Amino acid sequence: MTKTSIFVTGATGYIGGSVLTRLLAHPNASSFEITALVRTQEKAKLLEEFGVKTLLGSHSDIDKLEEVASKSNVVFAMANADDLGAAKAILSGFKKRYETTGEIPILLHTSGTGVLSDRADGLYATETVYSDLNISQIESLAPTQPHRDVDLVVVEAGRQGYVRTHIILPSTIYGLATGPLFDKGISNRHSVQVPALIKASWDRSQGGMVGEGKNLWPDVEIHEVADLYMILFDRATSDPTTPNGREGFYFGESGEYLMYDVCKAIAKALVEVGRGKSEEPTTFTQEDLNKYFGGSAYLGSNSRCRAERSRSIGWKPVKTTKDMILSIKPEIDELIRSGRISEKALPGRDQYY
Ligand SMILES: NC(=O)c1ccc[n+]([C@@H]2O[C@H](COP(=O)([O-])OP(=O)(O)OC[C@H]3O[C@@H](n4cnc5c(N)ncnc54)[C@H](OP(=O)(O)O)[C@@H]3O)[C@@H](O)[C@H]2O)c1
Repeated sequence: MTKTSIFVTGATGYIGGSVLTRLLAHPNASSFEITALVRTQEKAKLLEEFGVKTLLGSHSDIDKLEEVASKSNVVFAMANADDLGAAKAILSGFKKRYETTGEIPILLHTSGTGVLSDRADGLYATETVYSDLNISQIESLAPTQPHRDVDLVVVEAGRQGYVRTHIILPSTIYGLATGPLFDKGISNRHSVQVPALIKASWDRSQGGMVGEGKNLWPDVEIHEVADLYMILFDRATSDPTTPNGREGFYFGESGEYLMYDVCKAIAKALVEVGRGKSEEPTTFTQEDLNKYFGGSAYLGSNSRCRAERSRSIGWKPVKTTKDMILSIKPEIDELIRSGRISEKALPGRDQYY
């Protein structure tokens, strides 16, 4: 039996590790040949123990990416939503595959609802709500929006017809990732935005927020994000009419939070662990924004959406914003337990969208 060759990027990461975990447990796993792009020999060795082939390299290895994509039926791109060169290399490999075999391969590309973000600076909630079923609304987004340059190249490849493209746009993912890849220290257990807020708040010994925290963002739990990838993978590989190309946008959203509420929960939890001064979050100064967020007020933006297309293919997330708020204290406890925040060591993230 011919195996389905699957290439994954970001396997040592939060999303990628969660999706790879699910691929390894998939009912058809024995018919998959999975190759993961890995940046270190040490992690490559550990991953191989799970029956995963590895390609040692990075997004800068354009030739390797092109070559492996040209041999893949499916690619899960989950490393960096903003790396145009890597996306182009994968698409170029797929084009070669199509031209030599006539097969139309499948791309599941990771973007994010940061593409919908505005510049509210934490001062107001927008009324604008995007739907992943409303393609003309998505097409009205400026090409300068976060992730959008890469998304546009992906959609254009889908339009040309040599690949079926599906773009998954998770929102604020929360919760600790679980499974053997995380237990073995191969993949990263933590998300981006909430840990970034925790990191900043921990360092200044006080929960903080951008502006007044009046902005809104969608949220989604990590295991339910992995569900979405799996449902889409199953659909795309069994039914070529699964929305793709221009229509192939899938938001990851199962609730919406007010930034103030998250910042308040962080402030409260920091008081509980003896680190925070007050349960009331205070506004990040410009100095704070420079120190922790590269000068950006991004975490004061709005990003509002409804994952209607994702639900239309059978995705049924059940977690709510209440679960997100409840996840904050365990997240802080785990960051402390694992030594990722302490007096000396702060979690080393420089990207938070
Ligand atoms: N987490 C969220 O809430 C969220 C929401 C929406 C969108 N996203 C986007 O999804 C993507 C993945 O996010 P994540 O939370 O899973 O991040 P993560 O935990 O930091 O994982 C990133 C993964 O990509 C790999 N990687 C990064 N740069 C690479 C490069 N140049 N070459 C090869 N591999 C590289 C990392 O490898 P190493 O282990 O070697 O560093 C790691 O496996 C990001 O673009 C992020 O913006 C995340």
